Amino acid sequence: MDRTDQTETVLVTGGTGTLGGHAVPLLRAAGRTVRVLSRRGREDTDGVEYVTGDLMTGEGVDAALAGVGTVLHLAGGPKGDDEATRTLVRAARAAGVRHLVYISVIGADRVPLAWLRTKRDAERAIADSGIPWTTLRAAQFHDLTLTMVEKMTKLPVLPVPGGLRLQPVDSAEVAARMVELALGEPAGRVPDMAGPAVYDIAELARPYLELLGRKSRLRMPVRIPGKAGKAYRAGANLTLEGAETGERTWEEFLAERV
Ligand SMILES: NC(=O)c1ccc[n+]([C@@H]2O[C@H](COP(=O)([O-])OP(=O)(O)OC[C@H]3O[C@@H](n4cnc5c(N)ncnc54)[C@H](OP(=O)(O)O)[C@@H]3O)[C@@H](O)[C@H]2O)c1
Repeated sequence: MDRTDQTETVLVTGGTGTLGGHAVPLLRAAGRTVRVLSRRGREDTDGVEYVTGDLMTGEGVDAALAGVGTVLHLAGGPKGDDEATRTLVRAARAAGVRHLVYISVIGADRVPLAWLRTKRDAERAIADSGIPWTTLRAAQFHDLTLTMVEKMTKLPVLPVPGGLRLQPVDSAEVAARMVELALGEPAGRVPDMAGPAVYDIAELARPYLELLGRKSRLRMPVRIPGKAGKAYRAGANLTLEGAETGERTWEEFLAERV
């Protein structure tokens, strides 16, 4: 149910990305005025205002938050999500934002990789902001899984990291959940969201190759080194119990996309 003030503006960071591209029309469909923060200028469209700003430099961020009640923070990249989020939090506090909604990654505090540590620290910045907040951790999106499988299946042999499993989830379904959370009351950490099935790399590659009419590649077992490898083998990137589960399978996604 939409419990927010219908007249307030919702700021979407990352509104031009994969997840945000699904979320913005859903917010519009819910009748909300939407502002999107992007590093590149864009023409405004009906009910969507694009403002230019950069969360890494802080440029344009204060202006982007003027008059905003809810922030749906979906911007992210391979580096610097912690610092970018701290910059956003500072500006949101000054602007009197009443709800910060954040997307994180399953395993953010369990897999010792630099980019995941930035997600963990970004989560902490949100939780410590003093602003009422909601954070959802999601599994890897089908879109990113496809990019990974495309690259791996171009190699002469398919590397299959022993013990690595993924629970890919549909980004449109995650976006719908994020919008539901943004239109609800602040809820803190909510149950993780993962896809409907767990796969290893060979199981992800097989339906992709079949759709392309290509033969299955020779497989080469590989071992992810170090503590991160150990964490992946222990399933630290998975939520096998208590997760909210998306419906759209990897196979259904591939059938439409490939
Ligand atoms: N992809 C996954 O599998 C996955 C899984 C779980 C969680 N997540 C999280 O979900 C979020 C969105 O992922 P996505 O796959 O939709 O990302 P994406 O398609 O790569 O889009 C990234 C978005 O972030 C914005 N952005 C990046 N750096 C920025 C900066 N310095 N200042 C302002 N905006 C910036 C980009 O906007 P402009 O380029 O227009 O500036 C773009 O809209 C990320 O936080 C990611 O960690 C992703």
